[in-house]
Amino acid sequence: MAAAILVIAQKTAKVPDNEIHKATAVPDRIILNWAGDPATTIAVNWRSTSAGGFAEIALAEDGPGHPKKARKVDAVSEDFVTDAGPARAHFVHIDGLRADTPYVYRVGDGMNWSEWNQFRTASDSASAPVEFVYVGDAQNDIYSMWSRVIRQAYGDAPKARFIIHAGDLVNRGIVDYEWGEWFAAAGWINRSIVSLPTPGNHEYPADAQKVRHFTGHWRKQFALPSNGVKGLEESNYYVDVQGVRLISLNSNERQKEQGEWLDALLSAPNRPRWTILTFHHPIYSPAIKRDNKVLREMWQPILDKHRVDMVLTGHDHTYGRSNLMTGKTGMKGGTMYVVSVSGPKQYELERENWMARAAADTQLYQVIRVDPAKIRFEARTARGGLYDAFELRKGKPNRLVNLIPKTPERLAAPAK
Ligand SMILES: [Fe+2]
Repeated sequence: MAAAILVIAQKTAKVPDNEIHKATAVPDRIILNWAGDPATTIAVNWRSTSAGGFAEIALAEDGPGHPKKARKVDAVSEDFVTDAGPARAHFVHIDGLRADTPYVYRVGDGMNWSEWNQFRTASDSASAPVEFVYVGDAQNDIYSMWSRVIRQAYGDAPKARFIIHAGDLVNRGIVDYEWGEWFAAAGWINRSIVSLPTPGNHEYPADAQKVRHFTGHWRKQFALPSNGVKGLEESNYYVDVQGVRLISLNSNERQKEQGEWLDALLSAPNRPRWTILTFHHPIYSPAIKRDNKVLREMWQPILDKHRVDMVLTGHDHTYGRSNLMTGKTGMKGGTMYVVSVSGPKQYELERENWMARAAADTQLYQVIRVDPAKIRFEARTARGGLYDAFELRKGKPNRLVNLIPKTPERLAAPAK
């Protein structure tokens, strides 16, 4: 027996990262998105080595009878060649669904299948309350160190209808195994709750000439709306869900055009009651030497003009949350600005007057509940502890009620 153990020990070697996350004929990296109406459609994306594939979808039942009643939807399949080798990306857009209804689906090639995954469509009522999760940069040691945060978020908000990722999901946007880690960390959460990511600078890796390019992984792995600025499909977009207009701006490029697009979008009639923006680069930064004056001067007048309710960002690897704030003197009300981080990479905090609550050296996730009268915002630490909270009461202007816990602010890493 002792000899056998010795043989195994001698053979122990690091499995290459690309081997761990290598594509096979079995579907992986399965994720739900919305590319259309959240009440009646769902987009499913996955990866495999199979040439093509399809989804089967049925109304969820209390018993196991759904497979016989499932409808088949063929995938659009594309080559998905990366540094880890060849694979195929598969997408299905499923429409004609009933609002606020549980469904089950599976994806595969007819022989190799995912499990049957369950999700719920959004309500078609603009006054139905909705809960969602927002996280800042995952980015580093994603499988090892970020997984517990996204899993804790699920534990706290299992009925969340969607998850916002505020950019820098990975560190090197074209390195395939980092995406493998991102998908492995969230696991079946991604198969059960819709994701709405916005790209960060790390999704724009530089080439040998130091020119930054949007990683091809984004559009192969996600299916997001194409209703933003032309050329920025699936990165600049908006979704209207249950009284909330959720808008993703791609803060990496063509910012001025997106500002004009945003101004036009928010000037149009039939705007939902609440407007929440997400983009990666904050216009108010809690980290030292990270002020982004150019973007602030470009976008804040538009946010002020249209009384955007809340802005959810990342990039600065600290936590900072404002009171109601405007760029205009004398303007009442304003916008709530949040910067947060979910991954282990942490920057030094610069505690400034604009912050109602701040944190350094803390991994956080946020649970946000919206109803017609108010937004309830909670930032929680990796262990699930309440770190920050407020309510935003709808009005002209909105009214802020701070509900900050009495625990001290975490302003620096504890002494070792
Ligand atoms: Fe960033």
